[in-house]
Amino acid sequence: MTRRPPTHPTADPAADPAAVPAIDPDEVDLAVEIAGVPFATPVMTASGCAAAGRELAPFLDVAAIGAVVTKSVLLDPRSGRATPRMVETPSGMLNSIGLQGPGIDAFLASDLPWLVQQGAQPVVSIAGGSLGEYAELGRRVGAAPGVAAVEINISCPNVENRGLVFACDPFAAARAVSAARRGIPKDIPVLAKLSPDVTDIVVVAEAVMEAGATGLSLVNTTLGLEIDPVTLRPALAGVTGGLSGPAIRPMALRCVWQVHAALPDVPLIGIGGVRTGFDALQFLAAGATAVQVGTVTFHDPSSPARVGHELRAELAARGAISPREVVGVAHRPAGTPASREEAPA
Ligand SMILES: Cc1cc2nc3c(=O)[nH]c(=O)nc-3n(C[C@H](O)[C@H](O)[C@H](O)COP(=O)(O)O)c2cc1C
Repeated sequence: MTRRPPTHPTADPAADPAAVPAIDPDEVDLAVEIAGVPFATPVMTASGCAAAGRELAPFLDVAAIGAVVTKSVLLDPRSGRATPRMVETPSGMLNSIGLQGPGIDAFLASDLPWLVQQGAQPVVSIAGGSLGEYAELGRRVGAAPGVAAVEINISCPNVENRGLVFACDPFAAARAVSAARRGIPKDIPVLAKLSPDVTDIVVVAEAVMEAGATGLSLVNTTLGLEIDPVTLRPALAGVTGGLSGPAIRPMALRCVWQVHAALPDVPLIGIGGVRTGFDALQFLAAGATAVQVGTVTFHDPSSPARVGHELRAELAARGAISPREVVGVAHRPAGTPASREEAPA
């Protein structure tokens, strides 16, 4: 067995007696499962950052990454909010795109068949403005061939309740998930995507799991604001926007940590500022089964594949043959071996 230098200082076996010997990266099998559905790697795209995957095709093999999570699809076509609707922030990005998209008919006619034809694992993200829309979208997507999983974006204003964002209220979040779930076949996992902009994310997590979610995507963007240096007015036409990128990674990790501690058997997908394989590893250690890569894709479109390669090296350096071995290890008492299967008895 080749001993490789650890790629992160905390993995130094000399410094950490719990660390196990490194293995060859080729020995690592990145495949993971979520509720019985296989994914080639635990690294997926994040909704809204790679449309329906076509844009990534020149940079990576969409069939070789974990999944393509599509831009949230609505019932009708929508042009989104007024511009400017994106602004750079330190280590992040603020956007107020407003769910621009072609609507469900065009998505099912063109985007989904393309993904299926490429051999990709399509995770279809849906977003509604009312319970009726979530129910209709669930039915339409649930009946479409080739869908690996459905992600329910509940960070949308409820037009029937003063624009209150579904995700910010456990009761409304649960009703949206329940409405969509009813039309989706039981063998298709449903991932509820939560907002970090709540007092207690565990309460919302428990509510949507009771409503029929199979797993949780943690997290969507957090609300932010940026002032234009010339006009001294909000930089975005929509005034506030969703903050994303490495700036939110510790907050997203905290959400994964809290939810895994409370609901250790629920499959979690960590989202927020994943830029490197070590970032992905941090999410797995905090309790996620997989991660999504979003904002970083805008300056490195190959990142969903690159992060997978880097994760392989990070796992190998720690003697782990599968991502499964490190899921939740950060919750164990200090001194517990990082790799379950390779650790000495
Ligand atoms: C430009 C942009 C558009 C987004 N659109 C969606 C969307 O349609 N649906 C959704 O659930 N999340 C959307 N998100 C949120 C991302 O999927 C992700 O949760 C968030 O950006 C945090 O991950 P990141 O830091 O890796 O970008 C969007 C994010 C950005 C930056």
